[in-house]
Amino acid sequence: MKFETRAIHKGNHVTDNSGSVVQPITLSTTFEHGNEAGLLYTRAGNPNRISLEELIASLEQGADAAAFSSGNAAGTAVFQALEPGSHIIAPDDMYHGLHNSMTKLFKGIHTVSFVDMSDLEAIKVALQPNTRLIWVETPSNPLLKISDIRRIAEIAHEHQAILACDNTFATPVFQNPLLLGADIVMHSSTKYFGGHSDILGGALVTKEQNDFWIKIRTIQRVGGAVPSASDCYWLARSIRSLAYRMKGHAEHAMVLADYFLVNPIVEKVFYPGLKSHPGHEIAASQMSGFGGVVSFQVKGGAEAADKLISELKLFANATSLGGIESLIERRAAVEGPDTLTPPNLIRVSVGLEHTDDLLEDLDQAFSKIN
Ligand SMILES: Cc1ncc(COP(=O)(O)O)c(C=O)c1O
Repeated sequence: MKFETRAIHKGNHVTDNSGSVVQPITLSTTFEHGNEAGLLYTRAGNPNRISLEELIASLEQGADAAAFSSGNAAGTAVFQALEPGSHIIAPDDMYHGLHNSMTKLFKGIHTVSFVDMSDLEAIKVALQPNTRLIWVETPSNPLLKISDIRRIAEIAHEHQAILACDNTFATPVFQNPLLLGADIVMHSSTKYFGGHSDILGGALVTKEQNDFWIKIRTIQRVGGAVPSASDCYWLARSIRSLAYRMKGHAEHAMVLADYFLVNPIVEKVFYPGLKSHPGHEIAASQMSGFGGVVSFQVKGGAEAADKLISELKLFANATSLGGIESLIERRAAVEGPDTLTPPNLIRVSVGLEHTDDLLEDLDQAFSKIN
């Protein structure tokens, strides 16, 4: 079945005789012993989480998926599953929440080298005898840098390391890292999977059932950072329309990227769909669309960036991305003093409003800082 069809039908199991077209929410936290489904207690598994995991595994074309209560919980489970004393290679512009997880929660347990993941030589130089995990995030947040998943998978596997890919920005609509050689895929399902800025969630998907995955499952079930049955229901509900939302997000992002490119107040535009983007060719070879996030640097520094954002009416000044409504923020203001993100960089999560309205709003806001 094609992606759109799998997204609509996978994991939708109606087990009662009501004739419901949609699987209901099973709120019970516990299950009678000896039940046919083998369910015991909701932290270990419940019908809605099992359905959601089946759906996500199918979309990423993996062997299995595990749903978590947030993207950070999912990523943290990967670091936790490594043997203590492991070395990790991670992107220097990694999503700051997971950067914090690696450097704060695993301080004294693992070591990390942060490198430019678009530079294959830099990755090779960073390898150590105990490197067990290479982490990529492509496109990256917020600089939209592109990592070559195929080549980095080769480097990881030559070194008996695991390659994990944060696929939040691309989604499986546009990129399947497991088919390109990655071993684990991670998602913040808070973003495009949820799609409506109202659910927190995360997921991991594995290429194969192996010992590492058994550890991840144990961390999920015993650690207990799991989503509720209701959240699983709403996530699956939202994923049913993911393919069509993503096509809209990417189309609109391209329109805005082209607009920023010719805007005299814009210093630099970051969008992998632009031919001028340094990662465009690799992106085109591993993605079927370029996603819905565009970043740009505005002339006049942080002050001009803040002024521009404050003048916008349709774009909400808020953290996060992947919802149907357009969001905008100056990332350095959110990422704190250690950030490498330029102070005048604005990230836009381009929504599904009509682009004529988005451009009109941008025009009026830019005219105020001119
Ligand atoms: C690329 C990326 N990975 C992971 C996360 C963490 O996800 P969550 O906020 O669901 O914990 C985010 C959140 O912004 C993200 O943008």
